[in-house]
Order: sequence, then C-alpha cells, then structure tokens
Amino acid sequence: MSRKFLVALGSAALALSLAACSGGGAGSGDDTSDKKPGDLTIGVSMPTQTSERWIADGNAVKSKLEAKGYKVDLQYAGDDIPTQSQQVDQMITQGADVLVIAAIDGTALSSQLQAAASAKIPVISYDRLIRGSKDVDFYVSFDNYKVGVAQGTALLVGLGLLNKDGSKGTAKGPFNIELFAGSLDDNNTQYFFGGAMDTLKPFVDAGTLKVKSKQTTPEQVATLRWQQETAQKRMENLLTSSYNDGSKVDGVLSPYDGISRGIITALQNAGYGKGAKKLPVVTGQDAEIASIKLINDGVQSSTVFKDTRLLADQAVNAAEAFLQKKEPQANDTKTYNNGVKVVPAYLLPIATVYKDDIKATLIDSGYWTAEEVAAGQAKK
Ligand code: BGC
Repeated sequence: MSRKFLVALGSAALALSLAACSGGGAGSGDDTSDKKPGDLTIGVSMPTQTSERWIADGNAVKSKLEAKGYKVDLQYAGDDIPTQSQQVDQMITQGADVLVIAAIDGTALSSQLQAAASAKIPVISYDRLIRGSKDVDFYVSFDNYKVGVAQGTALLVGLGLLNKDGSKGTAKGPFNIELFAGSLDDNNTQYFFGGAMDTLKPFVDAGTLKVKSKQTTPEQVATLRWQQETAQKRMENLLTSSYNDGSKVDGVLSPYDGISRGIITALQNAGYGKGAKKLPVVTGQDAEIASIKLINDGVQSSTVFKDTRLLADQAVNAAEAFLQKKEPQANDTKTYNNGVKVVPAYLLPIATVYKDDIKATLIDSGYWTAEEVAAGQAKK
C-alpha cells in the first residue's frame, strides 16, 4: 500500500473520530470548562411521578448536582409525550448546558435533540435509550438484558424449577404461566422481555411451562406506559378467557412492580390467595416500597433492584465530564445501537430480591428502612 494512501486513510480516520466527538459532546460548543458550577444549568427531564423510582431518580440527580454547586431544572412530564417535548424545548431555549433525559417514548424526541445539537448541548440518555437520533452523546443505565434474565430466573426459582444457586430444583411441573411486558415505545422493554424469554424458552419448549392463553408476542403482552390498571385489566381478561375451566395460573412474568401489583389485585379479586387457591409466583422490578412489603408478606415473589442512587452518580459524572469538555467514562461501547449509532454507555449491575434478601440488599444499604418495609410506604 502506498504511503500516500495510508496518510489519506489516517486523516479520514482522524476526521471521523473528530466528527464522533462533535455531537454536542466534549470539545464543542460554548466553553463551559472555565465556568463556575453556579453559572451552569443541567436540565433533567423525567417521565412521570406516578412511579416511585422516577421520583427517586429525579431527586437523586438533582441533589447530587446541587451539592456540587450546579443549577438544576428538573421537570416531570406526566407520561405525556408532547409535555416532555415541550419541557425539553424550554430547557434548550433557557440555555441548559447539559440535558439528562429519561424519555417516555424513545423515538419521540429527535427534533429536540437536533435543537440541542445545534446549540451544542450534550445529551445524556438516562436509563432508557433515546432512539433514532445521532445527537445522543452518552447513555447511563443498568444491564437491561440481565434484568430480563433475572426476571425469567426468578419465575423459575419461585416455581421450584431452579434453586437460587442456579441448580435444578425439585419441582416437575407442568405449570401454567402468563407473560407481561412493558411499554413497547420504551427501548428497555425489548431487553427485559428478550432476556426473560431466552431464559424461559427451554422450559416452554420442554412443556414444563405452558402459556395457557397462548399470548406470547411482545405486541400481545405489552403494557402501554407501564400502567398498573392496564395490567390489572389484562390479567382479569386472561382469567376469564383462559382459566374459567377450573385450571389455575401458577406463575406470571411481570417486568415492573406497578404491573405486578395490578396483576396481583386481579388475581386476589378472583379468589387467589385464599384457602387452597395459592397466589401464583409473580416477578417484578424496581424494589418499590409497596411491592417490598408484598414480598415481605409472601404475596409477590420477587423484584429486581436497580440502585437509582448509583445511576444518579453516573449521570452526574457524565454531565460533569461534558461540562469539563471531557468524554465520560463508558464501560460498554457495543450493546446500545439506537438505530443510528452505537451510544457509549455506562451500565450498572442489578440484584434479584426475594423475601430473604430484603434485609441485606435494601435495608442494610439504606435504600429502605425496616419501618418503611413494614408499612409499605416511603417516609418523606
Ligand atoms: C425502567 C424500569 C421501570 C419502567 C417503568 C423502564 O424504562 O428501566 O426500571 O420499571 O421503565 O417505569
């Protein structure tokens, strides 16, 4: 190969790598690196206050940034897409220096992100990946595929098909199960459901697990906006359509504690949890306090804990790196393709919580107090 060609290749690569840095990331825009924290504002856009985790996320990000002296504009969008678009638009016009966004619909913010890129504002996608835009600079989240694997595994453990250490359990089945997934417009849903189904499939194929309703596609099992009432309705319909022949549901795959509580209410209203009609094994996610009480009381079987305090730390680290014109530290640069590019990510670990784990994982770490667990309510 000629030397001239190599030089040309080298400068093309340099141009490419510079272009990769210019999506509002380090090295572009107003120089924020010599400004004082008090002169810098971080816009934080959260989806909803109906779920406890987003309140915890919002508060944690805000207080950690404020502790470092930054100004914070925290907004909740009431799970309404136009409201979130409007709030982000406003953050941009009011001169935010960095945006941290947990999107309601992962594809609905492209024009806002374009405006952010034009104004050289770095965008950090928080927990849920924003799709279809090149103007996402960083992603902080948990290992979402592993969340799904943990939920599938927890269903198998709850049914006694596996032991907690992963070895084969003593139960034989067959068991009737039903499947629930989250909102299809949330990029995480495919990872949660995919991880869970990869884990359950061998048992379904072997006939040990039977989805009696035959509803198994993401479209059939999804829950728009992750709503508890929607899940309750669907569980009621499933009980009427598929279990009015005297058969019983033994397990329900649920991706989120709010959905789990809707499912449990439908089951209890149909007489489950009384006498010989045991409640099925129901999984969850987020370690919401109402569900931790249910797990402690033996009503819900498990949840997946994602420590929102650690996620907030990573969002703060990434925001600070961008403000100092540096690249945030990623630990995954392969997994999260948003349809336009692979977004560099920092992914945090997760933990399954059964009744036995409540003390060590949640109380000893200061996430919930023993009193809160007993009451099923967060102390303000
Ligand atoms: C989050 C979950 C949460 C769900 C519903 C997902 O994007 O990753 O933690 O349970 O949204 O709010």
